[in-house]
Amino acid sequence: MNIVIRSGAAIDAPALAELAARTFQETFAADNRPEDMALHLARAYGTSQQQTELLDLDITTLLVEVDGELAGYAQLRSGVTPECVTGESPIELWRFYVARSWQGHGVAHALMRRVELEALRRGGQTLWLGVWEHNARAKAFYGKNGFVDAGSHVFMVGTDAQTDRILARQLHNG
Ligand SMILES: CC(C)(COP(=O)(O)OP(=O)(O)OC[C@H]1O[C@@H](n2cnc3c(N)ncnc32)[C@H](O)[C@@H]1OP(=O)(O)O)[C@@H](O)C(=O)NCCC(=O)NCCS
Repeated sequence: MNIVIRSGAAIDAPALAELAARTFQETFAADNRPEDMALHLARAYGTSQQQTELLDLDITTLLVEVDGELAGYAQLRSGVTPECVTGESPIELWRFYVARSWQGHGVAHALMRRVELEALRRGGQTLWLGVWEHNARAKAFYGKNGFVDAGSHVFMVGTDAQTDRILARQLHNG
């Protein structure tokens, strides 16, 4: 299994848009109303949306390819930090998704190691994220990776206001 992790470029926008929408659906379709899913997918994903993100200097997009197939992605973002995140130089792990067929194979582990390096490279000292309160697998994964609960915020899926736990951890050089 050959895992390659690279920074995304504008040319990756169509493939990223497809992967991002697919992984969001795989993860959340069973727990949301179809109309809320449709609204969220239309707002958050699409080639022009992902192209804008790929060109945004405040966002780092990492793509994982396994044996040449796009298998996951992560995005780091600088911007507004919730008050409950109190560590120095915070940076947000905005999105972190592995395609279902590649879960449980170490892809997420490799991607998280690269996320840490990229966050440090961008001057981050504290990595934080929001995860749906009922997303047990992701919460377990983040716990294994040193994240601890810091608070909560509201995340809209279409018209549905959901509670995300905010998790945070310190980043360490070396
Ligand atoms: C959350 C997510 C990234 C976790 O990735 P994952 O591959 O499912 O990770 P898990 O920790 O559940 O499973 C890892 C398991 O893979 C197995 N594995 C096989 N090879 C491995 C390797 N080389 N390295 C690490 N784990 C390996 C192990 O059994 C490991 O379990 P362990 O750490 O308890 O030993 C992934 O499930 C996902 O993308 N989910 C959907 C999207 C999502 O919810 N994203 C988060 C939004 S906030």
